Amino acid sequence: MRGCVALFTLTILSGCTGVQSALDPAGREAGTIARLFWWMTIGSMIVWLGVIVLLIYSVRTRAESFTRRKARIMIVGGGVVVPVVVLTVLLLYGLAPIPAMLAPAPPGSLKIAVSGEQWWWRVHYLPPGQAPIPSANEIRLPVGEPVEFHLESPDVIHSFWIPPLGGKMDMIPGRKTRLVLTPSRTGVFRGACAEYCGASHALMAFSVVVQQREEFAAWLSHQSQPAESPQELLAIQGAHLFLANGCSACHTIRGTAAAGVVGPDLTHVGSRLSLAAGILPNDPNAFERWIGQTHDLKPEVLMPAFHMLPPEDTRALAAYLEGLK
Ligand code: CUA
Repeated sequence: MRGCVALFTLTILSGCTGVQSALDPAGREAGTIARLFWWMTIGSMIVWLGVIVLLIYSVRTRAESFTRRKARIMIVGGGVVVPVVVLTVLLLYGLAPIPAMLAPAPPGSLKIAVSGEQWWWRVHYLPPGQAPIPSANEIRLPVGEPVEFHLESPDVIHSFWIPPLGGKMDMIPGRKTRLVLTPSRTGVFRGACAEYCGASHALMAFSVVVQQREEFAAWLSHQSQPAESPQELLAIQGAHLFLANGCSACHTIRGTAAAGVVGPDLTHVGSRLSLAAGILPNDPNAFERWIGQTHDLKPEVLMPAFHMLPPEDTRALAAYLEGLK
């Protein structure tokens, strides 16, 4: 029996860690939220225990043993005074962190614009004094620095959420919302859409990589460069097929004639941790599956499936895209 209880407790607690856990904070804002959660949990446990004790007491006590005055004190005290005091304290404690969380990041901080699309994430890094650097479905951040996200959506309401780093923020068509996150340790985390936005809402995730300052700066500088030309024969064929099959109408690969803006920027797609907004690993096989079975993998996605292509063409496209590091 004791073994069962221990196993149950361990199973429950193991849910508190991991790449997408709000209770395993890796950022200043998430730390505040986790602390709030635990104090609210402790507060509600104390209230619950108090109610249970009173319930047992009332069942075991005979009504005649109460004077009218004592009964009135019990009702007014336990029914009005205690709940008002406890709920006011918890409410004030819960409201206290909000102003700091909604404040903008200090001047000079890195800004990142993210747009929720169907069903992926359009990302633009906006380093001070430089041109915007496009990316998609992956966010990299320098550790220990506040970063200000500018969030929007062209279609429906999405919600931007990286649980280990902070709270969620809605992405609302026609409006810009702001969220500041300050990662406190390096690592790889997972973000997700937290607002139902259509058929593939649950297939709209992204990787979050928190790096040391210098590592991040080197990565960002590489992302700002155009794509390198492919060297291998298969990949060179893939580059031709990319333009010949109209992929370039929707996707940009900087440094080539592909300049579409409907879908994700693919200039460095091969360097990302995952494919198709967090649902596939980033390898040639996954690229082939995505190109040929787009709608089986992500229902109602805007990209058409290219299952009509001969397998050797799909393989060449996959080799080209995977090589865009
Ligand atoms: Cu986007 Cu749910």
